[in-house]
Amino acid sequence: MADFDLVIRGGTVVTASDTVVCDVGVKDGVIVALGSSLAKGAREIDATGKLVLPGGIDSHVHVDQLSSSGAYTADTFLSGTRSAMCGGTTGIIPFAAQYKGQSLRQTVEDYHAKADGQAMTDYAFHLIISDPTESVIGQELPALIKDGYTSFKIYLTYDALKLNDRQFLEVLAAARREGAMVMVHAENHDMIAWLSEKLLEFGHTAPKFHRVAHANIAEGEATNRAIALAELVDQPILMVHVSAKEAIDRIREAKARGVKVFAETCPQYLFLTEDDLDKDGFEGAKCMCSPPPRDKANQEFVWQGLADGTFDVFSSDHAPYRYDSPTGKRVGGADTSFKKVANGVPGLEIRMPMLFSAGVLTGRIDINKFVALCCTNPAKMYGLYPRKGTIAVGADADIAIWDAEKKVTISIDMLHDDMDYTPYEGHEVTGWPIISMVRGTIVWNDGEVLAKPGDGKFLRCDVPATARPRGTSVHGFNPTSGDYIKF
Ligand code: URP
Ligand code: ZN
Ligand code: ZN
Repeated sequence: MADFDLVIRGGTVVTASDTVVCDVGVKDGVIVALGSSLAKGAREIDATGKLVLPGGIDSHVHVDQLSSSGAYTADTFLSGTRSAMCGGTTGIIPFAAQYKGQSLRQTVEDYHAKADGQAMTDYAFHLIISDPTESVIGQELPALIKDGYTSFKIYLTYDALKLNDRQFLEVLAAARREGAMVMVHAENHDMIAWLSEKLLEFGHTAPKFHRVAHANIAEGEATNRAIALAELVDQPILMVHVSAKEAIDRIREAKARGVKVFAETCPQYLFLTEDDLDKDGFEGAKCMCSPPPRDKANQEFVWQGLADGTFDVFSSDHAPYRYDSPTGKRVGGADTSFKKVANGVPGLEIRMPMLFSAGVLTGRIDINKFVALCCTNPAKMYGLYPRKGTIAVGADADIAIWDAEKKVTISIDMLHDDMDYTPYEGHEVTGWPIISMVRGTIVWNDGEVLAKPGDGKFLRCDVPATARPRGTSVHGFNPTSGDYIKF
């Protein structure tokens, strides 16, 4: 009788802090031993010369979701999780998106119905709060947090989603009271609306004008404001899909002052630029997302932010709208103005290989930081750690075995999502996961998908330690207890 269900033997095991050649013993889906010369497993994998990494957690994903533009994601929970695991990601956190007038509880139930029996990897949910009514803030949110939905996203732009500063303050105060992480889409709505209107008046309708309308300064202003509001309430926040120097500088300054502001960036801000929006005809729409890809100099600022710790999380913001579809990019019409194009790009499957190739193999970031950004920190930010996001005794055996020398040319034909294009067509990368496993079960093996729909399980999130307030606010008033301390 074997001691383990599975032993991964002789690989280089990498966590956010260590790199060690050792064996990994798995029993009942959990890592139970790390060491050399482990006893026999019922199944054995020889990982000599390979990297053994935690499975990635992609904490910013849109699947089976209606966008505020009326477009619908091409990916379901089935195709989205399939694509994830083929790129080394074994857990995703998509959104349950509330629209105005909808109950948050009903929204969550609707998304569960979409995911049930479909997902191939494990998944949790963030909530999108677009209608913070008294009952949402006072009853629904506290109950949902207790049920394991401990993070929510708010928007400072998009007509259908945006909160004003007062509403944002109420959400921050509720998060502080109940214990939750608040994710912020920070762009100044009126700046974008005003610029868009002027651009259209002058006939500037092409996709490249999306970049002009979503100016860097609009991201910088909203980021500054979000940090100020969060500081006022003393509530940690996480700035999502950060793209511009103007925002990165504000985050870096706030972190240096000890403010609990965390930050995420995405592949599109490292590997696409505004030039990709300026392609013939409507082609630029393939690379349209918000905030938009910026210039080469901003790409460099994003790389610096990854290297110096300004960014905590690297997510895909996978927002898969098909190019040639009236429910995708063309939701506003065939060759419509930039204002009516569905915003978002796909990236679930390429997220980790592209960062590994362009970040780790070039020496911009080390492999432990790569694991921190793609696996461990997302789990920590959203209350899934140490169950997920690391290789440690007691953690779920969510593991990806990487061939660091495998050369891959990215193309839509080799990806496993349900899209009709990838913005990274023709990009060459080195390094790709050859095996992915979820709770000890191999789901992706040497080019073959082995998981079945429904193998993935829903994950309740704990209140993340990262979401704990500092305890002292900038004004001495504790909005949770009512206490006032005069400094
Ligand atoms: O353009 C983007 N990022 N679309 C997805 C929705 C969002 O704001 O994250
Ligand atoms: Zn967003
Ligand atoms: Zn998004």
